Amino acid sequence: MPSNNKILLNEIFNLIIEYIDNLQQKDVVKYMPPENLKDEIDLSIGKKGADLTKLNEYVKKYLMYSVKTGNKQFYNQLYAGFNMPAFIGDIITSLTNTSMYTYEVAPVATLMEIELVKKMCGIVGFDSGEGTFVTGGSNANLMAMLCARNRKIKHAKDKGIYNEKNLTAFVSDQAHYSFEKAANLLGIGVNSVIKVKSDKNGVIMPSLLEKEIKQSLSRGENPFIAIATTGTTLLGAYDPIGEMSVIAKKYNLWLHADGSWGGSAVLSRNHKLLLQGLELADSFAWNPHKLMNIPLIDSVILFKEKGTMLKNFASGNTSYIFHEYDNSEYDLGPKSMQCGKRVDSLKLWLAWKMIGDEGYEKRINHLFKIAAYFENKIVDNKYFEIMAPRQSLNVCFRYIPKSAKNINTFNLKMRNELMKLGKSMINYGFIGNKLAIRFVVANPEVTTHDIDKLIINITEVATQLDD
Ligand SMILES: Cc1ncc(COP(=O)(O)O)c(C=O)c1O
Repeated sequence: MPSNNKILLNEIFNLIIEYIDNLQQKDVVKYMPPENLKDEIDLSIGKKGADLTKLNEYVKKYLMYSVKTGNKQFYNQLYAGFNMPAFIGDIITSLTNTSMYTYEVAPVATLMEIELVKKMCGIVGFDSGEGTFVTGGSNANLMAMLCARNRKIKHAKDKGIYNEKNLTAFVSDQAHYSFEKAANLLGIGVNSVIKVKSDKNGVIMPSLLEKEIKQSLSRGENPFIAIATTGTTLLGAYDPIGEMSVIAKKYNLWLHADGSWGGSAVLSRNHKLLLQGLELADSFAWNPHKLMNIPLIDSVILFKEKGTMLKNFASGNTSYIFHEYDNSEYDLGPKSMQCGKRVDSLKLWLAWKMIGDEGYEKRINHLFKIAAYFENKIVDNKYFEIMAPRQSLNVCFRYIPKSAKNINTFNLKMRNELMKLGKSMINYGFIGNKLAIRFVVANPEVTTHDIDKLIINITEVATQLDD
């Protein structure tokens, strides 16, 4: 390697070390609106390449204005925290840059992916199952829906779904929007995703699920999939898989469980009851990039029945790449929707190897304790209102101002001001027409002290606005 590259690499590694060292000391974000941020960084790409010494400067700028999702005041999204072995895995993945389609170009990563999928199938009770790493929970949900569609309409893969009755899918009204995106991509239309009313806790009501299926049938439609969300995005609710599976069987529907957010609760003996009956599902979306703190993207789709992936995803004349795919279980490409596929197994494998089953179980248990601590603090605080009982790791609440007439506008302003200050980041959503601030915890390093600090930060902004 040229010596100037060695110097550069050393400098970049020093920046990385400094970033990690300061992760908790610095604000979670140095917020700047896009118009101003554009002026801070020379975003243009020129005809001539820049001097290599500039690279350092650009990386510094990037680090300075990026959100510190590893900071313990970051509660904005369903991922958070910093995981050293996984981070190292990610660097090594880039270093050894390869694609996951054939064993010959990704020998170790292939074996790791196979081992991880086997382990994950074992944990969820898909004893002779299979699976693959995908580009995110949305993609996992799409793949599950595609398999469900093809099981219902046997010629769908080869001939499409022309002249078929309208296919319908059933989710709770709290389910993730990726199912509508998937319906769009599968050619069945967004309106074919029927949203079943959930109860006040955000849990699907099975009796209404059955009612909606019957109504769909009476309209001459073709119901093909029911989806249980195991950890909803806003309320952290878990749909009852067991009850839904009885209905799915009765009407010959595929049952998919979307554990993109809350799926990792299966790693804890205390909390896996939330996913009771998971082994009855046909497929399961599990996102290690959320509750297992693996750097994005790290997502897996699992199928109960071996052979599902090859049957549904293998296509085309591929002799130039899969030279012996009919007999090679080690070439993962044909089972995937992708051609080039990043190595997402190494970072998870390294993290799980270092942390172990017990370590992950402890982390999940800790997160639930922290969420309960936050909930109690809010319940005991007369300025706040809990908006729905806590189901898992999400707590939806709002500040009740003395002065403001519109509570939604007040809470939105409060949340935005907090972000601009850069002290804490927390997101919001709507429960009916009420704006709810959504607390969610995914970073296992968060302590009760960090939660106290978050509540102080929120209260300070709120009382200033409420003056
Ligand atoms: C319940 C649920 N399903 C699916 C997704 C989509 O996952 P991804 O962001 O990995 O595409 C999310 C993301 O937050 C989610 O909460």
